[in-house]
Amino acid sequence: MDKNGDFPARARNLFAFSGRVWYTDKEYFQGYIMAESQRQSLFSAVQPSGAVTIGNYIGAIRNFAKLQDEYNCIYAVADLHAITVRQEAAVLRRNTLELMALFIACGIDPEKCVLFVQSHVPAHCELTWVLNTIAYPGELSRMTQFKDKSAKHADNVNMGLMDYPVLMASDILLYQAALVPVGADQKQHLELTRDLAIRFNNRYGQTFTVPDGYIPKDSGARVMSLADPSRKMSKSDENPNGFVTMSDDRDTILRKFKRAVTDSEAEVRYDPEHKPGVSNLLVIYHAFTGKPLAEAEKDFAGKGYGDFKLAVGETVADALAPIQAERARLLADKPYLNEVMKRGAEQAARIARRTLSKVYRKVGFYSGE
Ligand code: TRP
Repeated sequence: MDKNGDFPARARNLFAFSGRVWYTDKEYFQGYIMAESQRQSLFSAVQPSGAVTIGNYIGAIRNFAKLQDEYNCIYAVADLHAITVRQEAAVLRRNTLELMALFIACGIDPEKCVLFVQSHVPAHCELTWVLNTIAYPGELSRMTQFKDKSAKHADNVNMGLMDYPVLMASDILLYQAALVPVGADQKQHLELTRDLAIRFNNRYGQTFTVPDGYIPKDSGARVMSLADPSRKMSKSDENPNGFVTMSDDRDTILRKFKRAVTDSEAEVRYDPEHKPGVSNLLVIYHAFTGKPLAEAEKDFAGKGYGDFKLAVGETVADALAPIQAERARLLADKPYLNEVMKRGAEQAARIARRTLSKVYRKVGFYSGE
């Protein structure tokens, strides 16, 4: 820029590469740079471990897309985490591709976010090694998820399962993320991430941003199992009628909603304590229509549960149809998905490398320079 704060004439029409996008408009680019530099970074990841439920969609993935205009968003498919429990190699590969396609189909725009596969960026493992040297076995073995998963996979309690939260800390800290949208089950891991960041900063000097959890303004209530509304909807429910996945077809969705547990009254009213089943259906209806709960109740005033369940099922099926179509279209275009992953991994690696170099310098690794 010259002393008038203007760009040299010859550069005026070039504009400009932001790291992601070429701009031809100077004002726009300057605005972009401003916005970009003032934006906080936000990181999140989802494991490619099979079916994604509408609960995951409402609670997490859908919000990822909403955040991309406000923050520097970095989203990963966490395949390194997935192998802490046994995976079939071919299935893991397929799930990785499918989750990538689903992310994009749900509105995550690879032009606006950094979207990548965790194992494509070696820095995640490299930082994990360093952080392992400041993490204590005691604090890791105390993690609720470690205890739960150890009980559930008693035949495969491995070091990776215990180290899982350190890898997760590396994911977050590499990108200097200020914010991390996580569900309740990951809060403890985020706490540990903060502890490790603070511990490292204290020992070696300011290196990592200490992240906060991000709870979206309209986080919506938790989606509960259709078969047992006292439990969270989960793809590991033995009863497949308890959960609806993002790839269930229309008939399956309608059938699952038809069988949803309600109560013996015949009034559609939001009252989670006394009417958990009906309330859960109202929450799902609200999540997919955007209608406030009170208005949702009105839609079903005087109607029977049969009609109500059918209407909620249809709403969900209608909402998922375009996402499913887009996901299928993307999965048929593997070269595109490969290209997105490749570019995402390059962008991620560039950011991650900066942090990792700093870490290596601080701990005293000889750089050869
Ligand atoms: N452990 C998270 C889950 O299963 C996924 C994950 C991996 C993650 N790395 C992360 C979430 C970093 C937030 C930030 O839900």
